[in-house]
Amino acid sequence: MRILFLTTAHNSMSRRAYLELTEIGHEVSVCLAIGDCEMIQAVEKHGPDLIVAPMLKKAIPESIWRNYTCLIVHPGIKGDRGPSSLDWAILNGAEEWGVTVLQASEEMDAGDIWASVNFSMRNASKSNLYRHEATEAAMKALLQAVDRFEKGEYIPEPLDYSKPDVKGSLHVPMKQSDRAIDWSESTERIARKIRSADSQPGVLDQIFGESYYLYGAHEEDILKGQPGDVIARRDGAICRATGDGAIWITHLKRKSDAHNTYFKVPATTVLGDKLKDVPEIPLAFDDSYAGRTYREIWYEEHNNVGYLHFDFYNGAMSTDQCNRLRLAYLSALKRDTKVIVLIGGSDFWSNGIHLNVIEAAESPADESWNNIHAINDLIREIVTTESHLVISSMQGSAGAGGVILALAADFVYARKGIVLNPHYKGMGSLYGSEYWTYLLPRRVRSEIAQELTENCISLGTNTAVRIGLIDEAFGENVYEYCSKVSVLAEKLAQRTDYGHLLERKRRMRMEDERIKPLEQYREEELAKMHENFYSPDSLYHEARKRFVYKICPTCSEVEIYNISSLLPEPVL
Ligand code: COA
Repeated sequence: MRILFLTTAHNSMSRRAYLELTEIGHEVSVCLAIGDCEMIQAVEKHGPDLIVAPMLKKAIPESIWRNYTCLIVHPGIKGDRGPSSLDWAILNGAEEWGVTVLQASEEMDAGDIWASVNFSMRNASKSNLYRHEATEAAMKALLQAVDRFEKGEYIPEPLDYSKPDVKGSLHVPMKQSDRAIDWSESTERIARKIRSADSQPGVLDQIFGESYYLYGAHEEDILKGQPGDVIARRDGAICRATGDGAIWITHLKRKSDAHNTYFKVPATTVLGDKLKDVPEIPLAFDDSYAGRTYREIWYEEHNNVGYLHFDFYNGAMSTDQCNRLRLAYLSALKRDTKVIVLIGGSDFWSNGIHLNVIEAAESPADESWNNIHAINDLIREIVTTESHLVISSMQGSAGAGGVILALAADFVYARKGIVLNPHYKGMGSLYGSEYWTYLLPRRVRSEIAQELTENCISLGTNTAVRIGLIDEAFGENVYEYCSKVSVLAEKLAQRTDYGHLLERKRRMRMEDERIKPLEQYREEELAKMHENFYSPDSLYHEARKRFVYKICPTCSEVEIYNISSLLPEPVL
């Protein structure tokens, strides 16, 4: 079928839906729902058999939904209505939630139901639930709904609150007053409020007499203080006392003025000197402390395998974060283990250099330069590791240099269903570094490498495996995925030919180095990046600004290239 997406953003949900539907043979076009006019024009241009809205904040114009079946992916259980579905589910402590695919009609979210899939809730932020349980449920429901529509026999179910399985209700949009924090409340309650608004819009609160939106909540088990006081800082985050303990907050956004001057950055960057009397309470990455607290990097060891976790908010890696991770990696290499597993965050593995921290720097060009060197230094250590076999384990999606970071390891595994964007061009024609000119062609045919980077292709895990970008993808959820990675890593450490594998890796690296030194790849890439960062006519700074300030695109057409013609035949 010809399917047209009308979507507020071609975000993680929309990209995943695109990949799922094209993989089963549908022809999908994407229109950003900037306004009624753009939506109507897109429908006229594409003449779709079906319209799908994977993430839509606007109503579809009547002239469209009266003439075409429009399936809306709504992140709520049957009967739930309103724009703050997941927010209310988290704040009210729902134990079960769901995604419903319903038909656009006169009343918002009240159309006939085509499919609905429920899931168990976890103690996680709205964006984390959205990127995991909600996305998985949405894909199941959407594929079922599209299949039902295509077969033409299914009669969608009118919304009827008297049915026992219709348990949702109409919820008003959540306001800041609904989430307002009283710091004498429990840690659990405050964390729930922050998580209900993370990643957007954040909970508005006062710190040192000024207004900020709060993001990135982590419960703390040991530190205590006067409710509301900022009692500690660590790795960019601040810790505030609550009624029964304390909570870490990793990111803040100053309340915007009329010019929308502010964006989300690490809390200590925003508060600066105001924190001069607040103690830094470090926690070493290899400290065996097992209670609840905030740590971005931590290490554990089992059966000859070292697991190095790095969970950076939004997968963005600043100069400081790259340096800390590199030092932790070097330290992990000194341990008497055989395999190192690099485990990125559950939301994102990595999205490359930290564009928000760069934007906030006094000289964004200098900070871009420092950041790219820092991520390159980290990657060089991984590529040149001779003492261990290294596995990259991607539970979450990855973009730009973050994908290339994964390729530095000897084995690359991913959770089934994540989305990979191994390209830089979309960020103001950024050339990219991270040794991509070495690492990408090492895994995929050169014409595919060219297609991926030049045409900004998003890849699902099936395709990523088929083209050789990654080795394997598995797991229906994070738990299943991580368990299998541990099994694979421990088996690798026990292999009788482990020594041979390590030796082969050393020889291959030496041979690669002889053909072209790693340093030369870096110099050539950085020469182009220097131009991107420092040339007055570079498009990168403007593109980064638009990304960081979330300036809406002005063009509704999303051009998507396909690499299917270059794909090898599937192995049967
Ligand atoms: N630096 C800072 N923040 C980043 C980031 C980066 N490199 N990459 C993503 N983010 C943030 C986004 O601003 C967004 O923030 P918010 O939800 O807290 O407001 C969040 O991560 C999720 O990103 P979003 O773009 O909504 O996710 P997506 O799944 O739709 O798209 C990407 C994923 C990777 C395609 C997209 O985020 C992207 O293009 N990122 C930039 C990658 C890049 O150019 N890196 C620099 C070169 S190495």
